[in-house]
Amino acid sequence: MSTRKKRKVIAGNWKMNMTPSEAKELISGIYSRIKGKKGCDVVVCVPFVDIPVAAAATKGTIIKLGAQNVHFEQKGAYTGEISASMLKECGVQYVIVGHSERREYFGETDETVNKRAKAALEAGLNVIICVGEKLEEREAGITGEVVSRQTKLALQDIPVTMMQNVIIAYEPVWAIGTGKTASNEDADEVCGIIRAVVSGKYGKSVARGLVIQYGGSMNAKNCEGLLAMNNIDGGLIGGASLKPDDFAVIVNAAQ
Ligand code: 13P
Repeated sequence: MSTRKKRKVIAGNWKMNMTPSEAKELISGIYSRIKGKKGCDVVVCVPFVDIPVAAAATKGTIIKLGAQNVHFEQKGAYTGEISASMLKECGVQYVIVGHSERREYFGETDETVNKRAKAALEAGLNVIICVGEKLEEREAGITGEVVSRQTKLALQDIPVTMMQNVIIAYEPVWAIGTGKTASNEDADEVCGIIRAVVSGKYGKSVARGLVIQYGGSMNAKNCEGLLAMNNIDGGLIGGASLKPDDFAVIVNAAQ
């Protein structure tokens, strides 16, 4: 069991799901199941076009609003991109950067993850930085090395004063959307490695205060065991965040 007094953060990553009208319905479904629960922070990271509707639907609730990506420049000729200040003005408080799907399908690199994280933090957003190894890397026994490298590079030149707005999500790529979860112990061990990297760079107290989420097929059945681990301070949930009943079970498990 966790001995640290820190609020857990349960974030739903909706990915490319839900039109604005569906988003409104999903948020009201989630809220009706979790209202009154105050023991953890709850975030929904929605597609860009759902943001206005989601901002209205989450207003006055305990649900906070997140986006799934942000560009690193403030403005200019970057067709199709969205800046941190645009997100901020629309009521967004959190943004995911470096999700493995962006790394794999959209050319995201450790360098661009770092640039996006810095731009978001400078605009006053909270960032959820994703790291995680691929199956072949786990099989080659280099999980710790990969995750440490990704963590270090993502945090390059991020000052300690901004660390209170940083969350790191450990998402083993082979566990995402596959129904395969890391065992509680394996997930905890890797989250511990991430915490050690942060401790080496920023000191023990920052590392202790850092929220590290697990993500990758977390669901209503396995959430309790994962969230009870010492180094796991929350979850980044894909598929199960689209099902209000399941998402509410995960929020309950984090109370
Ligand atoms: P699943 O929960 O669908 O495996 O997705 C996890 C994820 O990628 C969250 O960012």
